[in-house]
Amino acid sequence: MTDQNKKPITKAVIPAAGLGTRFLPATKATPKEMLPVVDRPAIQYVVEEAVRAGLEDVLMITGRNKRALEDHFDRVPTLEKQLNDQGKDKLLQSVVDTNDLGELHYVRQGDPKGLGHAVLRGKIHVGNEPFAVLLGDDLIDEKEDLLSQMVEVQQKTGGSVVALMEVPNDQISAYGCAAIETVEGEDFFKVTELVEKPKAEEAPSNYAVIGRYVLSPKVFEVLENTPPGRGDEIQLTDALQTLAAGTGEGDGVYGVVFKGRRFDTGDKLSYLKANIILAAEREDLGEPLRAWLQDFVADQA
Ligand code: G1P
Repeated sequence: MTDQNKKPITKAVIPAAGLGTRFLPATKATPKEMLPVVDRPAIQYVVEEAVRAGLEDVLMITGRNKRALEDHFDRVPTLEKQLNDQGKDKLLQSVVDTNDLGELHYVRQGDPKGLGHAVLRGKIHVGNEPFAVLLGDDLIDEKEDLLSQMVEVQQKTGGSVVALMEVPNDQISAYGCAAIETVEGEDFFKVTELVEKPKAEEAPSNYAVIGRYVLSPKVFEVLENTPPGRGDEIQLTDALQTLAAGTGEGDGVYGVVFKGRRFDTGDKLSYLKANIILAAEREDLGEPLRAWLQDFVADQA
């Protein structure tokens, strides 16, 4: 094992070039990543998660119509001055906090050729070291340390690591699916096979790949040679299947099974649920929202 696969992990890649068609017309002129979950855009939760795990160097893969993402994490001196002059300290802090989140970089994807293609756009920035990939549609409970656990497993194995969640059989076709086996003495698993969005009856397991990955740099070389797969797109799952089957340096895929809370903001119903659950837990909104919800539900009965 050479050291490059075990170099410390400092970089996160966040693909954010998707068109967000599921949320039209809201996403006609606004990136889907900017849709608020309570009062923060969804993308902010994801960047915060990366920074919490010590990954301060964040590369966002953007595209046309995504300028708002860059603006959101940039300073707005006139707004800061106005809030300061008005003594609106809490609001000012919330604005300043987003400026200071990590070291953000941006590169465009250009052609929407799939998740694998988006990750490959990070090759020059990431270089020859392991890195994390966080998908913006998945929010992981802030109390969990999934990403740090995955980083640990990557550093131990020198391979790549996926986050897995058990889902009912009728939902597996919405995800990458992984067959796993135990690793003696460890609480993570070895991934033996990966299939992108299999039919329920053909799925090798009920373990869905959720949107967190910690990858060995070898994935770039593999992605460059991965032909378009499902949906005629270059699939990250297909590249991971190649790595899972390999036995050389930087090969091998491992799975960390996540049992905590994950909020899917990728479709309308789960997006609404995420907003309600997270708002109901907030100190400033929780109590009145829960009381109103109870009345509302009682009225519907
Ligand atoms: C992507 C991946 C899929 C993974 C999912 C997790 O699919 O291709 O393997 O299970 O994210 O959210 P998407 O949801 O972008 O279609």
